[in-house]
Amino acid sequence: MSIDYLEKFAEDIGYRSIQQLRAERQLWLNRESNAAFKDALELIPAIQSDPIICDSTVRIGKLEELTPTQKEHLEDALKTFIPWRKGPFEVFGTYIDAEWKSDLKWERVLPVLDSLKGKKVADIGCNNGYYMFRMAAHEPDIVIGLDPTVRYWYTFQFLQRFAQIDCLHFELLGVEHIDFFPSFFDTIFCMGILYHHPDPVGMLRKIWKAMKPQGQLIVETLGIPGETSTALFPEKRYAKVPGTWFVPTQICLVNWLQRSGFREVTPFYAQKLTSNEQRKTKWAPFESLEDFLDPEDDSKTVEGYPAPWRFYVHARKPKA
Ligand SMILES: C[S@@+](CC[C@H](N)C(=O)[O-])C[C@H]1O[C@@H](n2cnc3c(N)ncnc32)[C@H](O)[C@@H]1O
Repeated sequence: MSIDYLEKFAEDIGYRSIQQLRAERQLWLNRESNAAFKDALELIPAIQSDPIICDSTVRIGKLEELTPTQKEHLEDALKTFIPWRKGPFEVFGTYIDAEWKSDLKWERVLPVLDSLKGKKVADIGCNNGYYMFRMAAHEPDIVIGLDPTVRYWYTFQFLQRFAQIDCLHFELLGVEHIDFFPSFFDTIFCMGILYHHPDPVGMLRKIWKAMKPQGQLIVETLGIPGETSTALFPEKRYAKVPGTWFVPTQICLVNWLQRSGFREVTPFYAQKLTSNEQRKTKWAPFESLEDFLDPEDDSKTVEGYPAPWRFYVHARKPKA
């Protein structure tokens, strides 16, 4: 049996609670609705290949490492995980152009990011692990991706089956469990998450508790333009996205962070979202940004709300 990477921290974290949740959530993996993902993962041979991060793309494996039959099986397996929301990836020569050009977000974050070398990092809402693979290149001690969505757990494990990067770990947990890790993380990424939570300030306070003093938080969120500290509370959906609660102005976001106890709260990017960054592709062939905006007036969503911006802020937990 392989050693649990969290066991060595058992004294410092809510290890028993984590184990209990893991055991419960393990059952989700075997549900009938996830059978296709499970088959894709189990039937593919584990061919180890070093991931090479080249320009914007996470490249795993090389075409010449597969036989033609293996290549065919791999392509079929990759299609099981459609839609690919985050990317791009290249897996044994197959280029996966995901709905989001996630490399653009990473490039915006890099200039303000503390060194990750030897650090403990959390990626909240890690999706298929695109950013975790990008982080791995910076030699962290560990990166824990938290995401309760089974489809993404399987997608990540599929990629990791080839990449086999020891420091990367995916837990089927949510942001609501981040306080199982008190004063544990040097760096926390909270990207594309805040507006999905009915209590964004409560969530930021929990994140604060999980950070070491002087730790760095990177927040990225959907937002609306405006000069006052307000948040839109959509009646039902916002830009067709279900489960959207509070969509803040940039000032409001800064306020949330300050009132949650963060200091050095510094916005570093604010732009209207465009279909250069989010669009329909062969690997995500469903509705995307252009379908979410008013066709007559792209300054509005289809519901008539202000069209989405993206706001980026970095902040620090102060010294104890
Ligand atoms: C809009 S995506 C953002 C993905 C990625 N962080 C990014 O910035 O591109 C939201 C992600 O949050 C995950 N998620 C859903 N509920 C969550 C929860 N309670 N805690 C953490 N992540 C959650 C979803 O599965 C999805 O991967």
